[in-house]
Amino acid sequence: MAEAFPRLFSSMRLGHFSIKNRIAMAPLTRQMAEADGTPTDEMVAYYARRARGGVGLIITEGTYEEERFGCRAYLSQPGIANSKHVAGWKKVTDAVHAHGAVVILQLMHGGRVTDPRCLAKGEQPVSASATQSGGWTLYTDNDYEKSIRNIKGDWPKVTFGPARALTIPEIHLVADGFAGGARRAIEAGFDGVEIHGANGYLLWQFINPKTNLRTDEFGGSPENNVRFARLVCDKVRAAIGPGKIISLRVSQDGVDDFVGAFPGGVAYAAAIGKALKGAPIDAIHWSSFNYLDNRDPSSKTPMSTIIREASGRPLITNGGITDGPGAEAALTSGAADIVAIGRPIFAQPDWPYIVRSGAPYPWAEFDRKYVIRPPLDYGLAYPAGLEDPNWTATW
Ligand SMILES: Cc1cc2nc3c(=O)[nH]c(=O)nc-3n(C[C@H](O)[C@H](O)[C@H](O)COP(=O)(O)O)c2cc1C
Repeated sequence: MAEAFPRLFSSMRLGHFSIKNRIAMAPLTRQMAEADGTPTDEMVAYYARRARGGVGLIITEGTYEEERFGCRAYLSQPGIANSKHVAGWKKVTDAVHAHGAVVILQLMHGGRVTDPRCLAKGEQPVSASATQSGGWTLYTDNDYEKSIRNIKGDWPKVTFGPARALTIPEIHLVADGFAGGARRAIEAGFDGVEIHGANGYLLWQFINPKTNLRTDEFGGSPENNVRFARLVCDKVRAAIGPGKIISLRVSQDGVDDFVGAFPGGVAYAAAIGKALKGAPIDAIHWSSFNYLDNRDPSSKTPMSTIIREASGRPLITNGGITDGPGAEAALTSGAADIVAIGRPIFAQPDWPYIVRSGAPYPWAEFDRKYVIRPPLDYGLAYPAGLEDPNWTATW
């Protein structure tokens, strides 16, 4: 049978690993861990199910790497900060590897958008500069979700406190924290890590000129804004050695800035890509809700194409890719080497199988109830009424 999407279903190398196709599962925060950050058996089942669906690469949800500096961003967020976390994640990596997928752990630091309930009493969140996010922790805006949780009226919002600027010695300590988390991730059986420099969290707060007001070597120009993320990449590479995968995720918008755009548009993205040239990473991951929309009226070129060209690094692109033709086009247009699929693979673990079979994929409208630990059985979420084909990926 001729392959309908030959590029999508071709293998490639990342680090020392062979990825069986160009489909990555995008990182999706699930808040399903124990209160102390230990991954649960529910998480093992969730990831194993999606590995069985045939994705080549799984990038886990954002995970905190240490207990200091307000790193932990969410309640029930998993950690990789101690040996108990390592043991919990080992079950996930074993289950995922049994289905032939490569799996990397996303390491993140919440920075100024850390849930205040995760901070010690009186502890201030940290950021690039002394700023305060105008956002609030992610909650549902869905009436059904409210009714099943018996919430009347407005959903209670938890806002973020004023952040203080990290000192230069602290920047190095936080980078060491990422490196320690990466070392433990490898101990837990991961094939590498993704460093979260996107979506409004700490490294994004440095990369983004809107939140980075520094005048030292960690601010004031695209090269300086990226310096912290590069430092993290360098320390993580030194910690885990060559061969293991390192991806760096970047974006222009964030959880407290959903419509955000880079000041400077594509020119700023190009400068970031250039600043990352030669970084010891295997891929850059562009995060968005629609990779075709670069939010720069002066250019139609997707940001991922710009960064891929400027950095010379393999590019994972993400955002709004829902079907085979869309995924294949992202790969053949120069925008990406891998596509990362979030909501569709969350809702339909067999997305790769469905796409390859040529069956139409009925897009299930995303519901924000999935943002917080759901009281619903999402594990059997077949919103389109599709049957579980009980198949094994053979590519
Ligand atoms: C429920 C939910 C949780 C998410 N959690 C993370 C996360 O932990 N780390 C991250 O980098 N992005 C996270 N994202 C962003 C997704 O990785 C992705 O960028 C977004 O869903 C757009 O891709 P899609 O159109 O394929 O869904 C999350 C998105 C959703 C909807």
